[in-house]
Amino acid sequence: MFSADLVTELEEIRGRFPYPKAAMVPVLRRVQEEKGWLDGETQAWVAEFLSVESIEVHEVVSFYPMLYGQPVGKHVVHVCRTLSCDVCGGKELWKHLEKKLGVGRNGTTADGRFTLRAAECLASCGTAPVMLIDNERHENVGPADADKLLEATS
Ligand code: FES
Repeated sequence: MFSADLVTELEEIRGRFPYPKAAMVPVLRRVQEEKGWLDGETQAWVAEFLSVESIEVHEVVSFYPMLYGQPVGKHVVHVCRTLSCDVCGGKELWKHLEKKLGVGRNGTTADGRFTLRAAECLASCGTAPVMLIDNERHENVGPADADKLLEATS
């Protein structure tokens, strides 16, 4: 399923932990980088690789918002929907992005470019509202800032 180089890299990641199951999140993140999202076949492969049950992998994938159990667009936009952001412009930012992208929560634009997802606190409440584009955090984001950020995302 994966190249020999990637399997070697995953074995190295697994080896950093005292037991294989403890490596689940970093292994899933690395595999997700490779495949874009974590389909059932991939989750089953990871389960075997880490000597755990498939349901354990599925539980982790469905718990963490940064792991994708469904297909996503080329870029994933997360908007913080926790209280500090929500009361400091996050609601408006969310509504703006829904309208601009023409999608709702977990929706992907028709061109496959962006998926819009809600996030819990992104650990930067003092600079609310906060959003991520892929893994890059952006703070004090108003609607106009979001437009510029999306335009700059290739
Ligand atoms: S509430 Fe949004 S970063 Fe903490």
